[in-house]
Amino acid sequence: MVEVQSTGHSWDGIEEYDNPLPRWWLWTFYATIIWAVGYVLAYPAIPLINGSTQGFIGTTPRDEVAVDIQRFADANAPIQQKLASVDLAEIRNDPELVNYTNNAGRAVFSTWCVQCHQAGGAGANGYPSLVDDDWLWGGTIDDIHTTILHGIRSPDDPDTRYSEMPRFGVDGLLDATQIDDVTNYVMSMSGLPHDAAKATAGQPVFAENCVACHGEDGTGDRAQGAPNLTNAVWLYNKGGAPDEATIRRIIHDGPFGVMPAWSKRLSEADIRAVAAYVHGLGGGE
Ligand code: HEC
Ligand code: HEC
Repeated sequence: MVEVQSTGHSWDGIEEYDNPLPRWWLWTFYATIIWAVGYVLAYPAIPLINGSTQGFIGTTPRDEVAVDIQRFADANAPIQQKLASVDLAEIRNDPELVNYTNNAGRAVFSTWCVQCHQAGGAGANGYPSLVDDDWLWGGTIDDIHTTILHGIRSPDDPDTRYSEMPRFGVDGLLDATQIDDVTNYVMSMSGLPHDAAKATAGQPVFAENCVACHGEDGTGDRAQGAPNLTNAVWLYNKGGAPDEATIRRIIHDGPFGVMPAWSKRLSEADIRAVAAYVHGLGGGE
């Protein structure tokens, strides 16, 4: 038994020995200090007023990610160029482009469009479904491309799709009885439960005030984005058919659906990719 020196500290007769630190521990400790100094010299480490010290290796994992992203962009550049310059109608005949637009279009859609049009383009109250064949502004790839590029009633795009249903109640164009009657006439057109007497009274109101946009038979006009009122598809739908109060409110207040223009936010290739994706969702013409 080796006699170990005491530190001289003693508490209630319990003494503290003066053992040296274990060698292996000490060397590991020194090694970590050397490693830390090496790391600080090799990589960006010490914060300065603008940025930080750069380190002699001259690269970081972050730079490597940037390089990877660039490599990816370079690899996609040729197909994006092709997509941006090909005739829109030709996209679906080119398997390579179909494959690309399916993937890239879905990615663009899930980033920029789902907030309003919902997953898979199912739509919501005020935000049209993009999977059915009922189109406000048209369902050809060209129509869809134009809609996405310039938006609808988008204030920052002079070429935006535009029309404005009058605010029949707010601006006093129709009185309450007329609005009530024409509401019931609208409901009769698509077979919703309605008051037959009011609907009959509402027919001339419709003929005088609504046919310019919704058409004599109420089937709508794509040139003005005016919905078909005779089918079961509703833009302002509350998850199905709207109730009487909703239709009355639309006619009273005037709807004014706005969709942003994407020309300034997305590249032409991305806009075409998402246009082709939407066109392929099921309702494309
Ligand atoms: C801020 C909400 C919003 C976002 C985001 C949005 N949209 Fe729309 N979109 C609308 C509204 C509202 C309408 C209907 C406008 C109207 O009443 O005519 C619409 C209409 C459309 C139409 C026309 C449908 C038809 O029946 O003619 C297409 C196509 C469309 N959107 C595609 C897209 C795509 C693709 C994106 C993503 C790049 C997108 N939208 C992002 C709100 C949005
Ligand atoms: C200047 C064109 C115009 C006139 C006139 C007009 N509308 Fe509209 N109407 C529209 C447009 C455009 C929309 C879609 C608005 C939007 O997307 O925000 C619409 C939407 C509607 C809707 C909602 C349909 C849905 O699918 O949710 C109803 C209901 C409606 N109009 C009824 C009428 C009635 C009734 C009249 C006559 C009293 C009338 N409109 C006159 C252009 C018009």
